[in-house]
Amino acid sequence: MDRLRAGRLTGDMPEHPILVTGATGKSGRRVVSRLRAKGLPVRAAARNGEHLFDWTDSCSWDAVLKGVRSIYVVQLDGTKLVRPFIERAVRHGAQRIVLASGRGIDNPDYAKDSGGVLDGFLDGEAAVRESGLEWTISRPGWFAQNFSEGFFADAIRAGELRLPAGDGAASFVDAEDIAAVVVAALTENRHAGQIYELSGPLAVTLTEAVATISEATGRDIRYVPLSVEHYVAELVQRGLPPADAKAFADVMEPLREGTDEYVSDGVPRALGRQPRTFAEFARSTAAAGGWPA
Ligand SMILES: NC(=O)c1ccc[n+]([C@@H]2O[C@H](COP(=O)([O-])OP(=O)(O)OC[C@H]3O[C@@H](n4cnc5c(N)ncnc54)[C@H](OP(=O)(O)O)[C@@H]3O)[C@@H](O)[C@H]2O)c1
Repeated sequence: MDRLRAGRLTGDMPEHPILVTGATGKSGRRVVSRLRAKGLPVRAAARNGEHLFDWTDSCSWDAVLKGVRSIYVVQLDGTKLVRPFIERAVRHGAQRIVLASGRGIDNPDYAKDSGGVLDGFLDGEAAVRESGLEWTISRPGWFAQNFSEGFFADAIRAGELRLPAGDGAASFVDAEDIAAVVVAALTENRHAGQIYELSGPLAVTLTEAVATISEATGRDIRYVPLSVEHYVAELVQRGLPPADAKAFADVMEPLREGTDEYVSDGVPRALGRQPRTFAEFARSTAAAGGWPA
């Protein structure tokens, strides 16, 4: 709070709410909590958030942007709406923006872009850089919370994670660390112009990750590697259109190919400490009752 008051964003202006989009999601929810824990005013926005905000309805944008100077933007994957949103934000007097992007977007060999997600991230990053605002970009790799509240949570609950990811490993990043970096960038002056690639401190394989979750939860959970063909066939059998099943298999490619194994320095650079390990994530999630039962 003191640091923000000392910064040029507030000066002698009255305090402005910090807008958090995606405020009900894995990173946004944690950003909201951390800002409020610092006593800062927050406008938590999403379709199901405290403040109604829908990327696909530009009529909902002005109400959340009014009076805001700093914004955390979690974009809608597969769209290029960050650019018009930022133009609108500038008209409302925004000064600082922190964008949620993704690791590997500057590497054409990183992943297939079947849903236009990478294209949307690239356009969003360019829009932020060209905006004239103070900007910071967060580029996280795979979230550890995919196991507890995202993509893999149902399978973890069922006791068996079946994926076309072979022995691939990833340096999963804890969304708590992502939120800590975002809050630092929103509230401190030294992060302008920084791109923070965010990962955990080391890569773990899916077998290791699932074993770590088993240990933390005291439940018997296993990982079963599948071929891409087998995985797609299973999803289609469960009713998914073949194109969607193939898109899910494509999303797994960085895990399968190990392109998300490398460790990034964003957490130490932004926060001056190491990121949390996967084991710390698994244990703290268990302590908070956060594993799907
Ligand atoms: N998960 C990962 O491993 C990972 C890794 C790297 C990058 N990312 C990127 O990080 C971003 C967030 O991912 P996440 O995993 O945190 O997602 P998430 O937990 O599903 O959160 C998505 C948020 O966006 C909101 N939202 C969805 N549709 C919306 C709409 N039409 N208008 C307004 N808000 C909308 C959701 O709230 P409502 O439903 O209430 O609207 C929710 O708050 C995505 O761009 C993703 O590609 C994710």
